[in-house]
Amino acid sequence: MSRTAIAILSTENLLHNLKVIKKQAPHSKVIAMVKANAYGHGLRSVSSRLEKHVDMLGVASIDEALILRKIGIQIPIILAEGAFEPNELLVASTEGFHVVFHEKVQLQWLANLSCPLPIQAWLKVDSGMGRLGFDMDEAPAYFDQLSKSRQIAQPIRIMSHFACADEPDNPLNQQQIDAFNQFIQSIASKAPSEYSLCNSAGIFQYPACHYHFIRPGIALYGASPLLSQSAAELNLKPVMTLQTSLISMKMMAKGSPVGYGARFVCPQDLPVGIIAFGYGDGYPRTTRDGAPVLVNNARCKLIGRVSMDMIAVDLSACPDAKVGDPVILWGNDLPIEEIAQFTANVSYDLLTGVQNRVKFHWTRYINHTTNGL
Ligand SMILES: Cc1ncc(COP(=O)(O)O)c(C=O)c1O
Repeated sequence: MSRTAIAILSTENLLHNLKVIKKQAPHSKVIAMVKANAYGHGLRSVSSRLEKHVDMLGVASIDEALILRKIGIQIPIILAEGAFEPNELLVASTEGFHVVFHEKVQLQWLANLSCPLPIQAWLKVDSGMGRLGFDMDEAPAYFDQLSKSRQIAQPIRIMSHFACADEPDNPLNQQQIDAFNQFIQSIASKAPSEYSLCNSAGIFQYPACHYHFIRPGIALYGASPLLSQSAAELNLKPVMTLQTSLISMKMMAKGSPVGYGARFVCPQDLPVGIIAFGYGDGYPRTTRDGAPVLVNNARCKLIGRVSMDMIAVDLSACPDAKVGDPVILWGNDLPIEEIAQFTANVSYDLLTGVQNRVKFHWTRYINHTTNGL
């Protein structure tokens, strides 16, 4: 039997999550964020499953967008960080990509180019996150500049991004909403436009801010975007379940060390299982003792340092376990947020961290078995 580290990916759960999101924001168009290899789930596989059900796909680089065109994806694709060099504006023009403008050099590039077709443009404003986007006081001038450019299609759309939408009580959220609203009101008197503010957390928290487009990422993949509510409470289902198997078992005497650095020492005689999955597969090396691992559906506890290819568990909760038994590391019946609590990670980096040697199996529909781009 070959190594059994696999990611089982559920088309059904992906489409279910999309339905839940659309129910939250029934009047908005959906930009499904598939950047970073669709949060580790496979850019092509996810995009081809979503294409017929969403209005646009969101990527971070033109390379990702071109891969999608290459496999025949025809719906609009937005370059969420815009062009990284002038030539990308030309490519975006011919491919019909939507381009975010967030930095004045991007407008200079545009002024010096002759694009074959008008570009679908978004102006990104910094409503308070302090990352990408024009400051509110300078943004109206850049909006005017884009409006006057013959290389830009109308309408020019406006977007911004929340810094703390996962924390409902954070006062920055309302400040950002107020700043964004003020800006779009000032723009509305100049020209028709369309707006987008909400990521997954915003979609669930701020129905008044859904505007024309929502931009769900993590919720599509079935992890909770909110610190205060679990995925199940939001009716989201995990798209990815990481599965492997038990490859060795032994009874270890009280006082025996387990794994690198002898971080864990058996406090009493313990049945210990070795599982074929390590940080070389994407299970974080920083995971602490006690992280839950499902062996034959029984919740066991991780013990000792995560190795490149293996982890160890205390099998006390699963006395009938035998070599070859199935193991789940996160996904169905084991929310990824629970694992994140035992690491320095959040669900986003756990999902994007799953490595290429893990085999991907999609349930139903098209079967792209590689998780690579
Ligand atoms: C501009 C933008 N919009 C939307 C998203 C989706 O965010 P989330 O995964 O929290 O829904 C991201 C993700 O980082 C983003 O950068």
